[in-house]
Amino acid sequence: MTITEALNARRTIRLFQQLPVRREDLTALLEAARVTSCAGNQQRLRYTVVTEPALAERLFALTAYGALVRPRRSPVWGVSAPTAFIVVTAPAPATTLAYADAGAAIQSIQLAATERGLGCCWLGAIRRADIQALLQLPPESDVLFVVAIGHPAEHPVQEDTDDPKAVQYYLDDHDTLHVPKLTLQQLVDWR
Ligand SMILES: Cc1cc2nc3c(=O)[nH]c(=O)nc-3n(C[C@H](O)[C@H](O)[C@H](O)COP(=O)(O)O)c2cc1C
Repeated sequence: MTITEALNARRTIRLFQQLPVRREDLTALLEAARVTSCAGNQQRLRYTVVTEPALAERLFALTAYGALVRPRRSPVWGVSAPTAFIVVTAPAPATTLAYADAGAAIQSIQLAATERGLGCCWLGAIRRADIQALLQLPPESDVLFVVAIGHPAEHPVQEDTDDPKAVQYYLDDHDTLHVPKLTLQQLVDWR
């Protein structure tokens, strides 16, 4: 799979098969994050990997999915939930540069996952203080994002749109998730 193929194949996945994610695959995702660009090469980010089922269930309860497509893309624990999580943290108080680093790292994680046939959901709608307490993370560290990972049980499709008002993702009559992306014509000013 080329990088361009991975960029286009990657879609946010919110429904998962109930299969464990192999440790070697999670390690490959973390390696992808490790070598990613970061501001000043400071390498501020740290990663907490959660796969132990009892802990994963409690972490899952602190995350939220697909506000526009509830409840059909609201995963259920033990039925359609992700089976692995990577919690991304940075020194507190997290700076905009740390958030930028996290964005780059998470994109690398997602592309590495796509290459391996895994799916991810980048999660910002998370209960950060509760996650901090659950994982007993030190107060010097801030939770930035969680990445939910697993074997996909849905196959969303991307489509192009020229309408900036029509960017909401949606489910069709066949329960396929559609993800509209604005065309370059809408996004780019060539000079
Ligand atoms: C910063 C950020 C936060 C996000 N938070 C959530 C979230 O809490 N729950 C969720 O279901 N999806 C979340 N997403 C996924 C977006 O909804 C998804 O990327 C968007 O709908 C486009 O779909 P695509 O990833 O398939 O291109 C988040 C994405 C980003 C970049």
